Order: sequence, then C-alpha cells, then structure tokens
Amino acid sequence: MPLIELKDVCKIYNRNLPNEVVALRHINLEIAAGAMVCLQGASGSGKSTLLSIIGCIFPPSSGRAAIAGRPLSRLPDRFMTIHRRRNIGFIFQQFNILPDLTVLENVGLPLMPLGVPPAERQARAMSLLKMLEMEHRADFPARQISGGQLQRVAIARALINDPPIILADEPTAHLDRELSLGFMKIMDDLRRAGKTIILASHDHLITEHPAVERIIGIEDGRIHAA
Ligand SMILES: Nc1ncnc2c1ncn2[C@@H]1O[C@H](COP(=O)(O)OP(=O)(O)OP(=O)(O)O)[C@@H](O)[C@H]1O
Ligand SMILES: [Mg+2]
Repeated sequence: MPLIELKDVCKIYNRNLPNEVVALRHINLEIAAGAMVCLQGASGSGKSTLLSIIGCIFPPSSGRAAIAGRPLSRLPDRFMTIHRRRNIGFIFQQFNILPDLTVLENVGLPLMPLGVPPAERQARAMSLLKMLEMEHRADFPARQISGGQLQRVAIARALINDPPIILADEPTAHLDRELSLGFMKIMDDLRRAGKTIILASHDHLITEHPAVERIIGIEDGRIHAA
C-alpha cells in the first residue's frame, strides 16, 4: 500500500465566484513510504496546493486523499489538525514564522499542543538550530533575522516533532549553495532514517540531487510525468 495516495483529486479555489481558480485537475498520485520525490512545475502550476492537500492544510474539493490507507478527505477538521501535528513537518514557501516570538520559541511551537514540557521543547529546538547553524540567533525576535535565516528557522520548526512525512515548499529559495547542500544532506539523512520526503522546487541542486528518486512534473494543475 502506498503511504500517500491521491485519487482523482481536484482543488478549486473560490468555487462559483468570479475569481474561481481550478488549481488541481484530476490528480492521481502514489508515493511510497521512505521515498524522496520532487514536484517540479512552473509558477502557478499547483505545487503548493498539492503539498497543502497532502499536508492536511485543507481538503481536496473533490476526489480522495489518503495517508497510510486513512482517507483524509473525510476526516473532520479537528482530526485533520491532530493528524497534521503528529505526522507532518511542513516547510512553508512563505515560512509562516511568527515575527514577535524569538527564533527558539518559533522552532519549539509545534511541540506545545503535543504537551512536551518547556525544558525539553527548548533543548530540542536548540539542537535543531545548531544543526542549521542558527544557534547564534536563538534569542532574536524572528522579525530581526534575514530571509535565509528565516528559511532555516522554518526548516527547524518543521523537523521538531520528528514527523514521518516532511513536505518542503521551495526550501532552498533563500539559501546559498553551501546552505542548500547542507539542507539536502539533512533531507538525505532523514530519508535514510526512513522518513518520506516531498519537495517542491526548481532548484537544480534539489532536482538533480542523487537522493531524489523521482521528479513529478506538474503543469496547469495536471501531473504530466510520473
Ligand atoms: N488561496 C488561493 N485563492 C485563490 N487562488 C489561489 C490560492 N492559492 C493559489 N491560488 C491559485 O492557484 C494556482 C496554483 O497555485 P499554487 O500556489 O499551488 O502554485 P505553485 O505551483 O506553488 O506556484 P509557485 O511556484 O509560484 O509557488 C495559481 O493560479 C494561484 O493563483
Ligand atoms: Mg508555490
């Protein structure tokens, strides 16, 4: 059984309004547990929308999405949230970092609803910040750090709940070559540890990386190459 299975998934934003957008059209996709794959397609082709459905941010407008045989599309909202907190690490394209919290607080945030005590939250957040060479900014409010630093905070925050599924939307867009290679090394190590990783990127460093076993081409909401 594939870990992630989408059947005839469509996503329509603003349905029946003048600004209606059909963002995904009849997507059929299976991703095996332990795979590392990359979505590739032009701006506006539907990459972030597809990641958001797999990441339980919102359900498809029609069709079925299942993770480990469990149909997400039929889960009530609060179960979607619980599922997301436990199973998904999402590196958002726009980071979604809270500007008034410190870097350390931002990274530890996903552990709060899981009931992890503060000392452990801090320790785990700090060790991830060290791994991403960001510990020197741990106590800075997030609004005072650079774009590439924010991206690394978003990466650390996505990994803190040790999720089995990691979704990364343009994760190297603001990183230089060295940091991008460092990011891919982290992803490769996580893949070896059994995680399932789905990236969306145009960056050749990612699309041509030896650990990426499959490129999923997406064009105008349709998958065109498996
Ligand atoms: N919240 C929204 N409301 C309405 N339309 C949206 C919304 N989010 C995305 N869209 C539209 O859906 C289409 C797919 O958007 P999506 O963000 O998935 O593309 P993308 O492939 O991630 O693009 P990029 O490479 O620029 O990040 C685009 O035409 C976009 O304008
Ligand atoms: Mg996008």
